[in-house]
Amino acid sequence: MKKHKMSKLPSRSRKVKILAIETSCDETAGAVLIGNPHSAKPDYRFLSSVVKSQIAIHKKTGGVVPEVAARAHMTSIMPVVNKTLVDAKAKLTDMDYIAVTSGPGLVVSLIVGTEFAKGLSMATGKPLLPTNHMEGHLYSAFSLHPEKIKFPVLSIIVSGGHTMLVLMRNYKDYKVIGSTVDDAAGEAFDKIARLLKLPYPGGPEISKLALRGKTDLNFPRPMMSAANYDFSFSGLKTAVLYYIDKKTKNGKVALYTQDKADIAMSFQNAVVDVLTTKALRACKQYKCKTVALSGGVAANRPLRESLSRVCQAEKINFIVPDFELCTDNAQMIALAAYFRLYNKGKAVLPARVKADPAWEIH
Ligand code: KG4
Ligand code: ZN
Repeated sequence: MKKHKMSKLPSRSRKVKILAIETSCDETAGAVLIGNPHSAKPDYRFLSSVVKSQIAIHKKTGGVVPEVAARAHMTSIMPVVNKTLVDAKAKLTDMDYIAVTSGPGLVVSLIVGTEFAKGLSMATGKPLLPTNHMEGHLYSAFSLHPEKIKFPVLSIIVSGGHTMLVLMRNYKDYKVIGSTVDDAAGEAFDKIARLLKLPYPGGPEISKLALRGKTDLNFPRPMMSAANYDFSFSGLKTAVLYYIDKKTKNGKVALYTQDKADIAMSFQNAVVDVLTTKALRACKQYKCKTVALSGGVAANRPLRESLSRVCQAEKINFIVPDFELCTDNAQMIALAAYFRLYNKGKAVLPARVKADPAWEIH
């Protein structure tokens, strides 16, 4: 077998271009970042970002069917990467690195992006940066207002598959100090949406409906007072389920629209309350100077407002990505790959990279 040779790495003073690819779940995405990984302070900007959503496809089944998602990635990946390069006014050969999400996520979805990126790396000799999806969310909060970042940072990552509190001492050292013991925050939003017969994806539908809520039903706040930074959302989901069963006489009568709105608002209030309370407590214990919110659920307006309010009261900086950068995209993957280089991390030969659905951060 012919030995793969990586092209020469750029000199220390030069800016590098990173092409990033993301296919870990149900968005096919590409982005190009230009930045200097050797500068004293992080120095980067984005040249393009393309996201091809599969929402219309998965709406029909009310959720993501992994094989259907993988097939859609296969159809979209080439046009998405092409458009990413065209929008960046660049060619593949202008890139210095190729970054790809290789975990965690749906294995069949991850394989499409990972194998595609390996092919590009093999064909061009460009070094590969396998990137962790959760690190992508973690660093996505730094995409705006880098001047507001003062360490230690308490990072709250709330997505469809994860809920984590991460303590960041600097751009490199981070430690997960709490996570969910059962359902993730986004997963809970999606499950409650299904109970209320709302379309997929449930999170944005719940927050839309919650705007019309009038009465807070005081759902439980599981683990809010526990002496740790872990979360549990499945108990909250069960409490909502029991409430709905009682109200509908076990499905014999339908819920009024106002009942649904009250349930959505009360559920959302409980999630926001638990996340805000525990994050603030962690912030105080670790004397954090910045709170960073990221992940799909970071698009939730009441959650953003609640954290922003408490941070303002406590004189802590608050950073959150733009709405469209909260849900999955490749800009966050490019940024995590940039920080890997900034933190003196190395690229990898394509033959050593494989999709790893269980690649967790610690
Ligand atoms: O980060 P993400 O795009 O994918 C994963 O890595 O999981 O997060 C998707 C999750 C879904 O559960 C979705 O319902 C939730 O984020 N989400 C929201 C909102 N927008 C998306 N949850 C609450 N409020 C929103 N506005
Ligand atoms: Zn995600």
